[in-house]
Amino acid sequence: MNLATYYVETWGCQMNVLDSQQLAGILESRGLQPVGEAETADVVLLNTCSVREKAVQKVLSRLGELHKLRLATGNPKVVGLCGCVAEQEGARLLARSRVLSFVLGPGKFKQLPGLLEEVEAGGRPVAQGFVGSDRDYDASLIVRRGGARQLVTAIHGCNQHCSFCVVPYTRGREVSRPLAAIVAEVRQLVDTGAREITLLGQTINAYRCPASGADLADLLTAVGEVEGLWRVQFITSHPAFFTPRLIAALGQVPRLGSYLHLPFQAGSDAVLRRMHRRYTNQDYRELIAAIRAAAPHLTLSTDVIVGFPGENEEDFEATLRLVEEIRFGQLFGFIYSPRPRTPASRYPGAVPRQVAGKRLERLFQVQEEIQLSLNQSFIGRTVEVLLDGPARRGALWQGRGADNRVVNLPPWEGIAAGQLARVTVLAATAHALFGERAAEA
Ligand code: SAM
Ligand code: F3S
Repeated sequence: MNLATYYVETWGCQMNVLDSQQLAGILESRGLQPVGEAETADVVLLNTCSVREKAVQKVLSRLGELHKLRLATGNPKVVGLCGCVAEQEGARLLARSRVLSFVLGPGKFKQLPGLLEEVEAGGRPVAQGFVGSDRDYDASLIVRRGGARQLVTAIHGCNQHCSFCVVPYTRGREVSRPLAAIVAEVRQLVDTGAREITLLGQTINAYRCPASGADLADLLTAVGEVEGLWRVQFITSHPAFFTPRLIAALGQVPRLGSYLHLPFQAGSDAVLRRMHRRYTNQDYRELIAAIRAAAPHLTLSTDVIVGFPGENEEDFEATLRLVEEIRFGQLFGFIYSPRPRTPASRYPGAVPRQVAGKRLERLFQVQEEIQLSLNQSFIGRTVEVLLDGPARRGALWQGRGADNRVVNLPPWEGIAAGQLARVTVLAATAHALFGERAAEA
């Protein structure tokens, strides 16, 4: 089998985006070249997400399309299922699909070359599970895309077992990377053009350096000291892991971004208890108050689930009240989706889809108004923006501020992705700011 080209399809979160860059790097270290679409690739990898339902159906329908493509063109010769669906359902899907060649879970990436050899020898291998503390993360093998914005893993896995969430089953137990390795990776990325680094972890504020015991405050400080970096960001924090030390650091660390993603999931204590979230509505409010006192400039963002089993109208209204009170700059809302093996999937009190859908709509309506008014408060101000490139439609360019706000502006001669620009905001919608380049002082 002559395997010369590859294509990686990425679904899901930023962790998957980074994982795909590592899968690409492993293939390239074996001499394969990237192509822009599955149609011309010898090897196609599906790097999947299983956080919400229909993940398996989505994979099956994509496998069906790839099967047809192979019958028509002979390509792709090899199809690998990677990521969270691979970890969770891989072996079963291999048995059901004719086009699938192998299954590779997120803890076993380094086995990819060996799996390809097995496939070439006629096998259909499965690599799943998590062993050791290294988690098969090899920064040197990551093919970096994204120019000035780069992702760096700080902590793998999750120990939380929120009752709705599949991640602890698909990404294993928490393993923090050594602080020195993270800082070295950041330094190398900044030396080659990165301006903003986002440190990744499912519960990043539970970070503990295995060598020194350093915590996230130490890590942010060490990364923030890297010369040439514009901003360090970090996602995702869990409310139960904010120490006074970390809260103080939010107002002190040099070059720290002003965006804090802190999911609260639900406003009702009864729902939070059944979610196994380990904080109350009041704990969350107090935490936000402490964070705002230490770092008033932060833009807060959150995740919310509606329609969790047993959620009644009153519970949902507690969620709306929290959203109205805190006024998040950004909110990701989801309808609860039962996931295999999770305790909540066996809870009684399913909320009808229609009811959950209506709640999500109401939530988004409230959030939309908040976002619009927060964004309008920027009109007339000047913000610093890291430019990403032309906006998808129209003649404008797009970038983001240090608080992750999208900013659109007309280009000028010599404009380039990765440049920093000072932008005077002239108008705002709920989802973006619009402005023009400020005259340099
Ligand atoms: N580690 C993060 C945290 O502390 O919340 C989040 C990880 S999860 C991949 C991202 C978001 O997806 C969660 O915050 C939650 O709102 C949502 N999510 C996870 N499982 C879900 C489910 N079964 N149904 C609906 N939404 C879900
Ligand atoms: Fe999932 Fe909760 Fe961990 S949402 S990723 S189990 S903190």
